[in-house]
Amino acid sequence: MEPPLNDTIEAINRRAYDAMAKNEHFLTTPVLTSELSKPLEILDARGWLGGNIRGWKVLCLAAGGGRQGPLYAAAGAEVTVVDISPEVLENDRRVAAELGMNLRILNVSMVDLAPLHDEEFDLVAHPVSTCYVVDVASVFREVSRVLKPGGLYVSQHKQPVNLQASLRTINGYYTIETAIGDRTKGVAPGESSWLRESSTAEFAHSLETILGGICRSGMVIEDISEPDHAKANSAPDSMSHRSRFIPPYLRIKARKRGDAKPRSLILS
Ligand SMILES: C[S@@+](CC[C@H](N)C(=O)[O-])C[C@H]1O[C@@H](n2cnc3c(N)ncnc32)[C@H](O)[C@@H]1O
Repeated sequence: MEPPLNDTIEAINRRAYDAMAKNEHFLTTPVLTSELSKPLEILDARGWLGGNIRGWKVLCLAAGGGRQGPLYAAAGAEVTVVDISPEVLENDRRVAAELGMNLRILNVSMVDLAPLHDEEFDLVAHPVSTCYVVDVASVFREVSRVLKPGGLYVSQHKQPVNLQASLRTINGYYTIETAIGDRTKGVAPGESSWLRESSTAEFAHSLETILGGICRSGMVIEDISEPDHAKANSAPDSMSHRSRFIPPYLRIKARKRGDAKPRSLILS
């Protein structure tokens, strides 16, 4: 199959997520009202945000769906939500209106955040989505540009091997099927599952691309976690079984180089 052009990849993923939002796919499900009373417990189990983000300017990047944005707003942040899918962002509009929240909502691609100013944000919160772009370096460049010096970048990515390996066992083993870092072919679409959205175009990026890319864009990595989805005695081919062999995600806490300006100086 001919490799799709980059703009086509964006179109494929926009269409896929538009359809997922219309079909109420779990990745586009809005927040429950009951969750809004404990937003940081849900957003920040590791305590990377320090327990209080009241007044922070937060960019929820590729994070539409009516969940992330409202949770950060409930924690007291001033929130901007960016996503490529208009239907996904419709959920944010609806939830914001229902809850009387003020969300700034932008329908742009994460590879070019031109409407956002340099050094605008205290935090960029970026759920799993670098798999949907070929040029991840441009995303990290943009994140670093819009972060204030000392600002935090908390992101989650599909582990390279998660995207390389078969979804099911073949002769009893999960098998590596996709070459790493192939910028032309991407990942063979698998069945729709917790680990793969079959109608999207995805790319398996190497650790050098992800971790090195963050460092090369002017940020310093402070911590990493591998959210645990494994369960002992789970049935082969289930997500919890596969996760015993392949931790599906990599969560990264990074900070833009440079001293944070004291708030009093920023306000004066
Ligand atoms: C796995 S979802 C993450 C957010 C999820 N709704 C949540 O609540 O955690 C991935 C998101 O990335 C968005 N996306 C895909 N490609 C994008 C791009 N190039 N620029 C911005 N957003 C993109 C999709 O529309 C989707 O909303």
